[in-house]
Amino acid sequence: MQPAVSIIGAGPAGFALAAGLQRHGKSVLLYSHPTHLRHANHVKHNGHLRVSGLMQGSANLHVTSDMAEAVASSQIIILTVPSTGQETVLQELRKFSLRQHVIVAIPGNLFSLIADMEVGCVFETNLSPYSCRMDEGGLMVMGKKELVFIAALQQQNLNPAVYDTIGSLFPTGLKWCSSILEVCLSNVNGVFHPMMMLMNAGRIENTSGDFLLYRDGLTPAVANAMLAVDRVRIQIGDALGLRLKSAVDISNECYGQGFTSLVELAQSSPPHNKLRAPSSLENRNISEDVPDLLVAWHCLAEKLGIDAAPIKAVIVLAEMATGVDYFETGRNLRRLHLEHVSRAELIQRFGPVQEKVAQEKLVQEKPIQEKMAISSSRL
Ligand SMILES: NC(=O)c1ccc[n+]([C@@H]2O[C@H](COP(=O)([O-])OP(=O)(O)OC[C@H]3O[C@@H](n4cnc5c(N)ncnc54)[C@H](OP(=O)(O)O)[C@@H]3O)[C@@H](O)[C@H]2O)c1
Repeated sequence: MQPAVSIIGAGPAGFALAAGLQRHGKSVLLYSHPTHLRHANHVKHNGHLRVSGLMQGSANLHVTSDMAEAVASSQIIILTVPSTGQETVLQELRKFSLRQHVIVAIPGNLFSLIADMEVGCVFETNLSPYSCRMDEGGLMVMGKKELVFIAALQQQNLNPAVYDTIGSLFPTGLKWCSSILEVCLSNVNGVFHPMMMLMNAGRIENTSGDFLLYRDGLTPAVANAMLAVDRVRIQIGDALGLRLKSAVDISNECYGQGFTSLVELAQSSPPHNKLRAPSSLENRNISEDVPDLLVAWHCLAEKLGIDAAPIKAVIVLAEMATGVDYFETGRNLRRLHLEHVSRAELIQRFGPVQEKVAQEKLVQEKPIQEKMAISSSRL
């Protein structure tokens, strides 16, 4: 049996990953928070997980709500809760010493910056490797990405063996990014989801989501509005020295496709063009992607001196539509512990790897007192 893995978050993404890993000979334990047992209870009731779609058959998976068991059973912990659930899970994880553990947050959405605990190493991805849904304990796997973007919070001194271990957890290829900011900026759900939801809000509420979100909802005008958000996202990357691709090209890279426009993708991409719209605006397309992606992107843009009016417009509209103060509840500079970080420090810390290595060399050449001043001013 290959190394054990504990997966925290027993929803479609966690069950799909668990079933896939188990098929590849890994011993897997799933943790479901005691107040979030919806899917876990169905699977327990059925006695096994029924899997259909891309994966077929059934899986017998051990599901627990005991975090001590999850932490003890493996030094590899994969988080598959929505980023809005990461804090709840962290409250449990902080009760344990995780200095010897590796955490992989799928998706991260800057989990490393809110974790507030010592962990051996934390990795973050931009997306979940599987596209999947669950219904009454049955898992439907609709698609698998070709590539997932990933980075570690501290990756300069990583043992090369870690890359193999992390690679063995994913059914996809991995694109190692310069930093967790590059990964977060590559979660293009922030470009797609909130805008499609808000520009189709009337239709969602009138029909309880009885239409295809991408195919019917991503029309040329919606695409134009998305492109405005996407331009700001790319500018944030430019200011950090990261060369981000457009949302369509990142989606193409992750799904192994070759679409030339958002509308073409919405019409013709099989993992997207059959997705039904949610039945209301109370959906993670807004409740996760606005506070944990758009608010984070917006505050990074402000720190970097970039005009982020299109992103701000989406956040404000989401706030007006839902009544939630996302600027306050979302991943703002205070929550990300970046409030007192200067623009230059932000670039130094999260810019391209080569520059950081060059900076390290620079530090090594400085006198010892100066070296100490530099390292203590780092985060
Ligand atoms: N499924 C996909 O195809 C897909 C594709 C791309 C990205 N993702 C991303 O992958 C992540 C997981 O997706 P998913 O579909 O598995 O999500 P999910 O079903 O909404 O949530 C995963 C699990 O986390 C639990 N959870 C939710 N909020 C929690 C909280 N505050 N504290 C503790 N546990 C909580 C859920 O329990 P309850 O259901 O009982 O609340 C569920 O067991 C999300 O960030 C999603 O955006 C998923």
